[in-house]
Amino acid sequence: MENLDVIVQSALAELSAAADPAALENAKARYLGRSGELTALLKTLGQLPAEARKAAGAEINAAKERVEGALEARRAELAESQMQARLAQEALDVTLPGRGRSRGGIHPVIRSWRRVEEIFRSIGFDVADGPEIETDWHNFTALNQPENHPARSMHDTFYVDVNDANGTPLLLRTHTSPMQVRYARMWVERHRGEAKMPPIKVLAPGRTYRVDSDATHSPMFHQVEGLWIDEDVSFADLKGVYTSFLREFFETDALQVRFRPSFFPFTEPSAEIDMRFESGPLKGRWLEISGSGQVHPNVIRNYGLDPERYIGFAFGSGLERLTMLRYGIDDLRLFFDGDVRFLRQFS
Ligand code: PHE
Repeated sequence: MENLDVIVQSALAELSAAADPAALENAKARYLGRSGELTALLKTLGQLPAEARKAAGAEINAAKERVEGALEARRAELAESQMQARLAQEALDVTLPGRGRSRGGIHPVIRSWRRVEEIFRSIGFDVADGPEIETDWHNFTALNQPENHPARSMHDTFYVDVNDANGTPLLLRTHTSPMQVRYARMWVERHRGEAKMPPIKVLAPGRTYRVDSDATHSPMFHQVEGLWIDEDVSFADLKGVYTSFLREFFETDALQVRFRPSFFPFTEPSAEIDMRFESGPLKGRWLEISGSGQVHPNVIRNYGLDPERYIGFAFGSGLERLTMLRYGIDDLRLFFDGDVRFLRQFS
């Protein structure tokens, strides 16, 4: 069968010339496939006389095995060279010097945050965390802020495209004051049925949001809320607590504090807290530092408490503001630019 030899030779040549797996599989189909040349030859066996059939069959099968052997060998070769190419491509030069890792640092605002926490913990305040996406009720209504209050306008507040259970859009909290309500209600629930509710003393620092952006305002900023409620917490307590906090925070007794009459819907009376350094670069200038006041009876009621019995103060201070005064920084945007030359000075 010289025809068989020709077929085998050309099959071997094509298989070993196949440059990639696809070419190899095509070559295989041409000889061993259903309509391949060797397959066709096997099909002709039936036409041979019985004696000749056996010998021819054996010969064709031997040829087929040779071709299959060559196919396997070429497959292995191609796989190997593919692997080598990939290894070369993904090679790592382990002798290159490392990139190194520099040390991170604490952001100056977070430094203040921790500092304020520490000071208030030392006088028995709990520290609480709450949601930045708030309900309209916690952020405004519960805080005695009527429906038509200007802070509720789309212009001043970031609203979220999701409604609360009452069908009112959620919003990014504009202050940390909703935490007064959340914490007090949790506290009241926890101490329900007890003859005397222990005082509510909580500090709630966190991120807040307003549609505002210039050298002293950022759409995201940090506040720290303080709340102390008991049967006899007075405005004098607010003055004492806040003044000693400022002295500890700025590490100096050489500062004056003034409570300037102001308005917040959720406190009555309300005061803006101003301070003045008696030395240093800011010496002699009054600086506004915090809102504060005695919690309004309507808000006490929304805590779930009787305003005839419970009374106390709240304050809400800007952490960026405290940090700027502590380090003498005059542009709030520096806190959010992420420039390590600025940030490195604080770590
Ligand atoms: N929530 C007020 C603000 O963001 C500050 C404040 C807090 C005032 C608590 C009084 C009492 O401006």
